[in-house]
Order: sequence, then C-alpha cells, then structure tokens
Amino acid sequence: MAVQKLFHISIFLLVCTAKAINPEAEALLRWKSTLIGANPLPSWSIANSTCSWSGVTCDAAGHVTKLHLSGFGLHGTLHAFYSAAYQNLIKIKLNSNNLVGTIPANISLLLTLTILDLSNNNLVGAIPYQLSKLPILVEVNLGNNQLTSPEFDKFLPMFSLKLLSLANNNLSGTFPQFILNYTNVRMQFLDLSGNDFSGLLPDSLPEMVPRLRYLDLSANGFSSVIPRSLSRLQKLEILLLNENNLTGGIPEELGLVPGLRVLSLSDNSLGGFIPASLGQLQLLEQLNIRNAGLVSTLPPELGNLTNLGIPSEMFSNLTNLAVFDVAKNLLAGSIPSQIGNCKEIITLLLSNNNFTGSIPVEMGSLPNLQFLVMSKNHFTGVIPSHIGNATSLKFLAIRSNHLDGELPATMSALINLVALILSGNKFTGIIPNIDNRQLPSAKVAKDKNDNSFMGELPSAFCQLPLLQLLDLSNNQLSGELPGCFWYL
Ligand SMILES: *[C@@H]1O[C@H](CO)[C@@H](O)[C@H](O)[C@H]1NC(C)=O
Ligand SMILES: *[C@@H]1O[C@H](CO)[C@@H](O)[C@H](O)[C@H]1NC(C)=O
Ligand SMILES: *[C@@H]1O[C@H](CO)[C@@H](O)[C@H](O)[C@H]1NC(C)=O
Ligand SMILES: *[C@@H]1O[C@H](CO)[C@@H](O)[C@H](O)[C@H]1NC(C)=O
Ligand SMILES: *[C@@H]1O[C@H](CO)[C@@H](O)[C@H](O)[C@H]1NC(C)=O
Ligand SMILES: *[C@@H]1O[C@H](CO)[C@@H](O)[C@H](O)[C@H]1NC(C)=O
Ligand SMILES: *[C@@H]1O[C@H](CO)[C@@H](O)[C@H](O)[C@H]1NC(C)=O
Ligand SMILES: *[C@@H]1O[C@H](CO)[C@@H](O)[C@H](O)[C@H]1NC(C)=O
Ligand SMILES: *[C@@H]1O[C@H](CO)[C@@H](O)[C@H](O)[C@H]1NC(C)=O
Repeated sequence: MAVQKLFHISIFLLVCTAKAINPEAEALLRWKSTLIGANPLPSWSIANSTCSWSGVTCDAAGHVTKLHLSGFGLHGTLHAFYSAAYQNLIKIKLNSNNLVGTIPANISLLLTLTILDLSNNNLVGAIPYQLSKLPILVEVNLGNNQLTSPEFDKFLPMFSLKLLSLANNNLSGTFPQFILNYTNVRMQFLDLSGNDFSGLLPDSLPEMVPRLRYLDLSANGFSSVIPRSLSRLQKLEILLLNENNLTGGIPEELGLVPGLRVLSLSDNSLGGFIPASLGQLQLLEQLNIRNAGLVSTLPPELGNLTNLGIPSEMFSNLTNLAVFDVAKNLLAGSIPSQIGNCKEIITLLLSNNNFTGSIPVEMGSLPNLQFLVMSKNHFTGVIPSHIGNATSLKFLAIRSNHLDGELPATMSALINLVALILSGNKFTGIIPNIDNRQLPSAKVAKDKNDNSFMGELPSAFCQLPLLQLLDLSNNQLSGELPGCFWYL
C-alpha cells in the first residue's frame, strides 16, 4: 500500500516537473488561450511535445527558436505574447493573420530576435520605439497594419537592420529622422510606401544608407524635387517614388545608377521631359512615368536638352526593358524606331500624350509585346503589316488617333488578342477576317461605350483566351461583322 502511494506521488511529481520543465510551452499556451475563435492551433497541446507544434521550431536543446505562424487565421492580441521564458527566440513571423490591438513594448525584451514580421494584420497604435533597442534585429516588417507614428526621436540606431518595411500604415510626419541620424551600412531594403509622410525627400540617403538596393517611398505626400543625390545610391536596383507631390523634373543623374532595374515616378507633378540619360540604365526593366506632368517645356535647371518626347538614343541600350509606361503626359514627337531594340518589352503604354508620326514597323519585331496602348495621340499613317509579327499581342488599343488606310490582313495572325480597340480613326476598307478562329465570345464595344476600359489594362480580362472586346466604331470600315460577334 505504502509502496503504491509512493509510486503515485512520484508519478505526480514526474508529471509536475515535466510540466514545469517547459516554461516556453506554458508561455505559448498562455498566449494561445487569449486568441479568439475556434482552436486555431490544435497541435498546441501539452499532450504533444512543444517542438512538434505547428509553426514552432526548436534548437537541439529543445528551446523554441522560431515561430512561423503566417496565415494561420489567428485572431487576438499580442498582449500576452511576451514571456521571459523565451531565451532563444530568433524569428517571429505572425504575418497575414488577424491580430488586433497594439504592439506591446515588451516584445523589445526578446533580445535574441533577428526577424520580426507582423505585417498584414490589423494592429493599431504607435509603433513602440523600444523595438529599436533589439540589438541584433535584421528584418522588421510591420507593413499593412494601421500603425501610427512612434516617438521617432526616441529611436536608437539600429545598426544591424537590413530590411525595414513600415508600408501601408498610418504613419505621418516628415521622413523618419532615425533613419537619417546614423550611417547604416547594412540597410538594403527600405519601404515607407502607403503612409502619410510629407515634407522633403532627404538629400543624405547616400551617406546614411549607402548600400540601399530597394527604396519605396511611393503613395505618400512628399513634396520636393527628387534629390540628385539619389544617384549616389550606387547599389540601388528598385526606386519607387510614384504617387507623391514631387516636382522639378526627372534628374538626369538618375541615369547614373548602374544597377537600376525599376524606376517608377508616375503620378507626380514632375514636369519637364524624359532625360536621355535614362538610356544609360542598361538593366532597366520597368520605367513608369505615367501621369507625371511631363511636357515639352524644359525646366531651366535641367539644361538645354532638346528632346521633346522620347529621346531616340534612349532605347538603344534598354534591352532588358519590360514595362515602359509614359501614359497621360504631354509628350510630343514620334516613337523612335530604336524601340525595336527592346526585345524584352511586354508592356508599352503611350496613351494620352501628344505623340505624332507613324506606328514604327519595328513594333512588329517585339516578340514579347503583349500590351500596346497608343490611344489618344496624334498618330498618322497606316497600321503597318509588320504588326502581324507581334504574335504575343493580347491588348492592342490605338483609339482616337488619325490613322487611316486599310487594316492589314496580317492582323489575323494575332491569335492571342483579347482586345482590339481601333475606334475613332479613319480606317477604310473592309473589316478583316480576324474571325478565322471562330471566336465564340467576342464583344463589340459600342460607340460612346464606357471610356474607362482604356484607362487601365484590365489584367484579369487579359487572362481570357479569346477575343473579348472588339471596337472598330467611328471609322469608315464597311462590311459586316462576322455573325458570331452578335451572340454576346
Ligand atoms: C498532436 O496534436 C494533434 C492535434 O490535436 C493530434 O492529432 C496528434 O495526435 C498529436 N500528436 C501527438 C504526438 O500527440
Ligand atoms: C507585456 O505588455 C502587455 C501590454 O502592455 C501587458 O499586457 C503584458 O502584461 C506584458 N507582459 C508581461 C509579461 O509583462
Ligand atoms: C536626429 O538629429 C536631429 C538633429 O541632428 C535631432 O534633433 C534628433 O533628435 C535626432 N533624432 C534621433 C532619432 O536621434
Ligand atoms: C488609418 O487610415 C485609414 C485610411 O486613411 C483610416 O480609415 C483608419 O481609420 C486609420 N486608422 C487609424 C488607427 O488611425
Ligand atoms: C499635393 O499638394 C497639393 C497642394 O499643396 C495638395 O492639395 C495635395 O493634396 C497634395 N497631394 C498629395 C498626394 O499629397
Ligand atoms: C549605352 O551604353 C554604352 C556603354 O555603357 C554607353 O557608353 C552609352 O552612352 C549608352 N548610350 C546611351 C544612349 O545612354
Ligand atoms: C540654353 O541655351 C541657350 C543658348 O544656347 C543659353 O543661352 C542658355 O544659357 C542655355 N540654358 C541653360 C539652362 O543651359
Ligand atoms: C498637342 O498637340 C496639339 C496638336 O498638334 C497642339 O495643338 C497642342 O498645342 C499640343 N500640346 C502641347 C502641350 O504640346
Ligand atoms: C514581319 O512582317 C512583314 C510584313 O508582314 C514581313 O515582310 C517580314 O518578313 C516579317 N518579319 C519577320 C521577322 O517575320
């Protein structure tokens, strides 16, 4: 009897110590118990060994090192998250859940942390400045929440930081000082886009973050010139300044960033013209200067360059260019035949400008061209028969120009077309047999149809396999549309 009692006691002790032995498990379960809704983490149970719980990674000694719970449908706060039990936690990924409430300052007591990703939640309140005390933090992603500005002046230098994203929050004020007060040679990725920052773009980024490769300041209220100094960020590959209030033209110096692959300056009031120097950007894949107020007048500080539209020498080196979007400016001049050098080009958006001249035959030698939008310009002449060689074309819009002549029969070779919009020109002759594929669902756009389809490329629409939109109205074409067009 006594032996049996002793046995029971020792079992009891064993169980107790087994439980007490894992304070990390306890801490995790305590936080889990504060989450709302149906048990989102069924494997998190004392019956299972902690290191087998979903999203939990341990080191050899059985200490929790990583929590990888992206997109687990977690709903609740982080208030009960912190525990002194975590002595080895290096990575927290809780992104893409439904976490609410504030980010508790005590997260900054997790001194071993290198990666913190709380992006894509519904966190509110000020970002705790204490996070800057984490000594070996490498990546911080707090993007896509509703966080407000921290006390930026209490930030400590974060010398280990490589990646910082505060994108799409409710941050305001001027460009965060803490980024500018200390040189950080490790920082490579900085995303402040989609906030309410205002004021000047700083001149000192090349000194403070000299190794920056990715800089996204888009969709804010920055209002200044684009600092010429940005060209000294010699490692820069992606520069996104679109949707701000930037003025003063496109600095020629941007042509001096050798590795630049994406340059987006659209939706600003830049004014000025496209500097030919951009043609030196041999790795450029995307140039987006849509709706940037570019006109043929030259801001005096840019000197006496005479190119009014697209400088012809620009395209000769841009052999990697995939997206060229200059829509909605007042660019004049003709499309340089050197466009034919851009063999990689997929998207060419020239609509809503003042371009003149003819459609270059070289358009036909762009094997990857899928989206060609030239509507609302002053193009003249015929559609060259060469267009039939651009067989990747999905979306061809040349509405509202002064084109004439007959539509080339070669257009029937454009078997990938889903939209063909030619209205508002002076085409004559008969409607070509682009129906030789027996298109079952082509939709004929009616005159004065909704104009909006020209504004954006309806990309979902472009996934469709067959011609979906045909607009030949307001021309002098004769002949009947193939019968199948009317079945829609
Ligand atoms: C761990 O938990 C899951 C979910 O509750 C359960 O199906 C599984 O059997 C448990 N595994 C072990 C080893 O206990
Ligand atoms: C951490 O901070 C939160 C929010 O301020 C608080 O509710 C919680 O009690 C703190 N945790 C610990 C262990 O102090
Ligand atoms: C940065 O420097 C400015 C002036 O040099 C100072 O007013 C500000 O408090 C500093 N901010 C930080 C975060 O150190
Ligand atoms: C953040 O900004 C959005 C849009 O401006 C607004 O709807 C939301 O209420 C703001 N949230 C907070 C917490 O300030
Ligand atoms: C740009 O500046 C004008 C005038 O200062 C202001 O009305 C407008 O809201 C600003 N736009 C943005 C996107 O900040
Ligand atoms: C094209 O690249 C060469 C070699 O880098 C350079 O010398 C030339 O200036 C570039 N041309 C243009 C128009 O930028
Ligand atoms: C433009 O050229 C004119 C005449 O060649 C010259 O007088 C003027 O200083 C130049 N302007 C600039 C900004 O370089
Ligand atoms: C655009 O072109 C039209 C017709 O050629 C011309 O009347 C107009 O002045 C041009 N606009 C600008 C801003 O160059
Ligand atoms: C492109 O089309 C034109 C006219 O249709 C034709 O003469 C030419 O050979 C074609 N070029 C290529 C490379 O296929």
